Amino acid sequence: MNKPAATAAILAALVLSLPLSAQAPSFTIQADHPIATVSPTFYGLMTEEINFSYDGGIYGELVRDRTPSRSWDALNNWPMVARGNSLANVSLDESTGPSAVLTRSLRVTVSAATPDSPAGVENAGYWGIPVRPRSVYSGSFYAKTDEPGLSVSVSLQNDQTGVVAASATVTGLTGEWKQFTYSLKTGDVPVSSNNHLILTIARPATVWFNLISLFPPTYHARPGGNRTDIMNLLAAMQPKFLRLPGGNYLEGDHIADRFDWKKTIGPWTDRPTHQSPWRYRSSDGMGLLEFLEWCEDLKMEPLLAVYAGYSLAQDHVDPGPALEPYVQEALDEIEYVTGGADTKWGAERIKDGHPAPFPLHYIEVGNEDQFDHSHSYDGRFAQFYHAIKQRYPNLQIIATTPVKGVTPDVLDEHFYMSARESFSQAHHYDAYERKGPKIFVGEWATREGDPTPNLQAALADAAWLTGLERNSDLIIMASYAPLFVNVNPGGMQWATDLIGYDALTSYGSPSYWAQVMFSTHLGTEVIASTLDNAPARVYASVTRDNKKHKLFVKVVNATSTAQPLAIALTGVAKVAPLATLTTMSGKTPNATNSITHPDAVKPMAHSVAIAGPKFTETFAPYSVNVLELSY
Ligand code: AHR
Repeated sequence: MNKPAATAAILAALVLSLPLSAQAPSFTIQADHPIATVSPTFYGLMTEEINFSYDGGIYGELVRDRTPSRSWDALNNWPMVARGNSLANVSLDESTGPSAVLTRSLRVTVSAATPDSPAGVENAGYWGIPVRPRSVYSGSFYAKTDEPGLSVSVSLQNDQTGVVAASATVTGLTGEWKQFTYSLKTGDVPVSSNNHLILTIARPATVWFNLISLFPPTYHARPGGNRTDIMNLLAAMQPKFLRLPGGNYLEGDHIADRFDWKKTIGPWTDRPTHQSPWRYRSSDGMGLLEFLEWCEDLKMEPLLAVYAGYSLAQDHVDPGPALEPYVQEALDEIEYVTGGADTKWGAERIKDGHPAPFPLHYIEVGNEDQFDHSHSYDGRFAQFYHAIKQRYPNLQIIATTPVKGVTPDVLDEHFYMSARESFSQAHHYDAYERKGPKIFVGEWATREGDPTPNLQAALADAAWLTGLERNSDLIIMASYAPLFVNVNPGGMQWATDLIGYDALTSYGSPSYWAQVMFSTHLGTEVIASTLDNAPARVYASVTRDNKKHKLFVKVVNATSTAQPLAIALTGVAKVAPLATLTTMSGKTPNATNSITHPDAVKPMAHSVAIAGPKFTETFAPYSVNVLELSY
């Protein structure tokens, strides 16, 4: 043996004798070997009224507590205003309201006031009312007075400067309840969030108000619609479904507090509002039709969760005749979503302003019914299942926990994990039983970071997602929870939420960006791949889009060092010499985004040269990566 050959042999022997962990990590991708079809509905959203998700969140309403309720703090958000020598008193009047459903009102009694010293009532919104220049705000209220012909001045005033950004006068109040509309147009004012909406009168009188409302310009200019910035964040996730309306919010603490959908449709005067289990009252401005229009705006399908006779404080309805009204309630709800003009509830939807039925394929019966101590879910689920299937045989029925007797089409499984757990569960579904129902991972999150997840959580989320995507023959849908948090003090009931906001701005957490990266590079088929000799906390999965000839290689490096990975593509004739590598990384796993630093951790895309079907790519410390290759 000559000298170089001898050296090579010694080296080879040395390599073979190294422990496995010291061998170079490699990732072999059988690009021509799809092992599963990726569910086209894979990534979606889960939503409920929690952390001021709708009121004070995505729902555009700027006025807090627009419907005064009986609770002790009903007037907290409606202090009186008395300029100069004027005198005013604000109270809750239980004896009069604008409709048979809204029987209370804010009574504003002004005993002294002049045009120079007006008096009335004000509202600070949800931690401030945001004002932007050259914008039109659409307002309305219901009112009556004991001084017919009275006018009400409405204005948006900055708390610090006192500058009035916009004002309007509403004339012609009468002794009868009537709705009035107004619009507030701002000029060249600076952007600010510390504003009040102020309603005053200029002479002594009593005015009764209800449903005082103000909306900024909304997404797709929908009247009474959603906040544009938050909708844009969601649109970037390309979600395919919206699981609505919860979560615990569906169930309520008691049966009377459930999401009683019939009380959330039609004019606001028909919506009594209700107590949510997350410790505040919901305006129900985000009612069933608004949820559906939210779906329509983002091209998502509703995944409709129907109340199934169990509420959180252990109220439950026994299967059998007692449950029938709730089953009927669900059937009516499905009809409202999908029915034509010839159906009672389809006609109701048309009356509410939406002629076209909505697409609907999935119904979830209840939420987390494993917590029902009466163990009545087997019977309750079966009753709903049979009734829905009989009328709507094509609907897929989701159970919230395993059931005996009837086999659900889909099972919803929830995972709230520490980062350590998410990493260790990245292979949870690899060996999962394939003979049962399909799986909907309806709530999942790595809970590290507050109010929104940090990079460590995002790394763990991404590791977990490689496992979900790899098993998408079984997992047909997945949605993170909770979706939203108002980051102001008192806004959060549940820590670690995907998207944070205040009155003015919103931001995506690192976990949000990890999902954007994954969902916008989903592909149509899962590809066989093998990760060898990778250190702990390195994860990978691969999908492809065979029509577009794209491979999406997802690599998570949750270690503190850069990780070179020898990637070998088999089964492709060629690979394009340039690929796109999108990376999100940070200096430490505690790096995060916040309302003041919204862009600290974000994905960045750049081109990388690809030498051929075998190449080495190095992945940054603490990074989530998507390598998009063309073949
Ligand atoms: O996402 C927060 C809560 O967690 C949901 O309301 C409930 O379904 C789960 O327990």
